[in-house]
Amino acid sequence: MKLTRREFLELGAGASLAVTLGRGGGRRPAPDLITRKIPSSGEAVPVVGLGTRDYRADLSGDLTPFRRTLEAFARGGGTVVDTAPSYGNSEDVLGKLIGEIGIRKELFMATKVDRQGTEAGIRRMEDSLKALGTDHVDLMQVHNLRDWETQLSTLREWKKTGKIRYLGVTTSFSRQHAALVDVMRKETLDFIQVDYALDNRAAAERILPLARDRGMGVLVNLPFGRGRLFRAVGERPLPDWATGLGCTSWAQVFLKYVVSDPAVTCAIPGTTSPEHVTDNLGAARGSLPDPALRRRMEAFADEL
Ligand SMILES: NC(=O)c1ccc[n+]([C@@H]2O[C@H](COP(=O)([O-])OP(=O)(O)OC[C@H]3O[C@@H](n4cnc5c(N)ncnc54)[C@H](OP(=O)(O)O)[C@@H]3O)[C@@H](O)[C@H]2O)c1
Repeated sequence: MKLTRREFLELGAGASLAVTLGRGGGRRPAPDLITRKIPSSGEAVPVVGLGTRDYRADLSGDLTPFRRTLEAFARGGGTVVDTAPSYGNSEDVLGKLIGEIGIRKELFMATKVDRQGTEAGIRRMEDSLKALGTDHVDLMQVHNLRDWETQLSTLREWKKTGKIRYLGVTTSFSRQHAALVDVMRKETLDFIQVDYALDNRAAAERILPLARDRGMGVLVNLPFGRGRLFRAVGERPLPDWATGLGCTSWAQVFLKYVVSDPAVTCAIPGTTSPEHVTDNLGAARGSLPDPALRRRMEAFADEL
């Protein structure tokens, strides 16, 4: 049995992901998700992805919450999954579950390299491929700019051989923003990854405009400030301007703000909850705030 993604979505939770997604032959964002093009290729990805910093678990234990989250993500049309070898054994957990569910071909897998020196970097990346159960990842990023000159030169070689499709660098620290700008000016990169959120807008000053000028895709980490924004709004009901935008949760407000910056390719909120991943994908549906509403959202956040 082979179903189209649309048929699969209509079938809902009871359908077998392995049958419908695993053998499909590639990524096709669900038609109702807002997508952005990766500047260096024109390939479109949904504007909301999944961060997996907390996918740490005993592989022989109960992986049900992680499995259900990945299934809900794929069923909702999500494709971009970000991980790293430094997130405990998250790559092992993802490799096992993605293989079992059968969604590798549907996903745009991004991971990172965080080693000093050529050989150590190569070993680290080979281990990531093995853990993820794949012969290539879509995006390899130099984690927190560590030894970026050395690692980028390996990544260019890996890109030629097809072990990676895109390369980039990451940070989530404002103290590294100036260094990131330097790297962006010097190097040709497919992607950068940076921290950006409604209450953490420093990246919008120089980094996001530079990414547009330089034709670089942008993944946004910490779009909720690791939960800080949820704590800031507390039990407040959604304001009229948020419901008017079609938001049904604060998560959607925070994500719609982030992805409405035209430089942003995809936000990667971290979650291990199937309900939250579905909620987050809801931010990639309907409309996005215009510049005037963005300013109103910023004023709201500044008052929190
Ligand atoms: N330097 C780097 O390269 C770097 C640094 C940091 C992060 N990252 C990447 O960016 C990703 C995102 O960062 P993060 O996970 O640290 O922080 P985050 O996305 O800002 O926030 C994650 C927190 O928000 C909660 N959450 C998620 N969706 C929610 C929803 N709909 N409603 C309520 N709560 C919700 C999560 O809890 P639940 O699990 O309960 O949903 C978790 O506590 C990471 O997973 C990682 O892939 C990269």
